[in-house]
Amino acid sequence: MTDTKNDPVVEPSDPADTSDLPDDVILRVNHLVKEFPITKGVFFRKQVGAVQAVSDISFQIKKGETLGLVGESGCGKSTTARSVLRLLQPTSGDVWFRMESESGEDEIVNVATAKKDVMRQVRRDMQIVFQDPYASLNPRMTVASIIAEPLLVYGEGTKQERLEKVKELLRVVGLSPEHANRYPHEFSGGQRQRIGVARALSLNPSFMVLDEPVSALDVSIQAQVLNLMDDLQDEFGLTYLFIAHDLSVVRHISDRVAVMYLGKMVEMADRSSLYDRPMHPYTHALMSAVPIPDPEIELNRERILLEGDIPSPTNPPPGCRFNTRCPKAEAGICDVDEPEFRELEPGHWVACHFPEVQQVY
Ligand SMILES: Nc1ncnc2c1ncn2[C@@H]1O[C@H](COP(=O)(O)OP(=O)(O)OP(=O)(O)O)[C@@H](O)[C@H]1O
Ligand code: SF4
Ligand SMILES: [Mg+2]
Repeated sequence: MTDTKNDPVVEPSDPADTSDLPDDVILRVNHLVKEFPITKGVFFRKQVGAVQAVSDISFQIKKGETLGLVGESGCGKSTTARSVLRLLQPTSGDVWFRMESESGEDEIVNVATAKKDVMRQVRRDMQIVFQDPYASLNPRMTVASIIAEPLLVYGEGTKQERLEKVKELLRVVGLSPEHANRYPHEFSGGQRQRIGVARALSLNPSFMVLDEPVSALDVSIQAQVLNLMDDLQDEFGLTYLFIAHDLSVVRHISDRVAVMYLGKMVEMADRSSLYDRPMHPYTHALMSAVPIPDPEIELNRERILLEGDIPSPTNPPPGCRFNTRCPKAEAGICDVDEPEFRELEPGHWVACHFPEVQQVY
């Protein structure tokens, strides 16, 4: 069991006791692990290893807050999100979620273990918007039926009421109600993403995962969709887990930012601490990759280039998982002892033996 003093969330002594979950916290992820077994042999019955996609991460999100989750491809961002929503069954760990029950009272449920009827309620409250607006919408359905589908599944309203709701949602996401009878291929990438957002909003969720919602869009369109997400958050009091590859995309929308590397969280802090006082060498490298609009600074700045490839999550390096690529790694320490995730400044968590504030331009 991990030392609770060094836990980014306070671990309840009894995992079923959620009485210490502060009223303003909507989601608490505790020691989440997700492994994908690698099997072989007749009928794939023999397990020969596991992809360690998410290896013991903990965080919490307050109501109305946006937590940005950042890291290179394959570091486990989507697996974290899908485990939180239980689109994937976590291997271990808890996902406490504050849900509004039918009676209007708050109810705290463990999504990782909740029974089917509770999950049905949870799935109304937690929604996801996917990266690829081209693949995530059924090309044979009209926009109206795509947006109304969740309402139909939950038996909400009459046909006419659902159509009214669709029109209202189209307006909310900045599309015209006249678009209801068209098909996804008639829309641009940015517009399709708006349709995906309208669908996700249809059941009035309180929590949304945005899994790289703008990565597939033109840079010129990205800002529009980000602004829309920002406005919707204010309008509907939404809480976001916002996933992105790079630190520039989440900067404006996030209240706090968490950085992942190879299935582990390496740094987490509120926005200003993370961008102004980054302490983990991997965060420094990610930051140095963000282009700066001032050409003079951009030309003269030093980039931190990481050597080597990301190691395989089936066989992560011992000690600190970043040691094979870290410019500051010390042999005998970093490749032996795993650094703890420690709170080095209030609310600023870092997993490194040699943390150091470094301004990266
Ligand atoms: N269903 C699966 N079966 C086996 N391995 C998987 C599965 N889904 C993901 N993985 C592996 O788990 C690791 C984490 O993947 P994940 O998709 O969570 O990364 P990511 O950070 O979202 O990457 P990207 O930025 O490319 O979306 C990767 O090594 C991936 O290959
Ligand atoms: S613990 Fe060592 S290898 Fe890991 S990030 Fe810190 S300095 Fe680098
Ligand atoms: Mg992903």
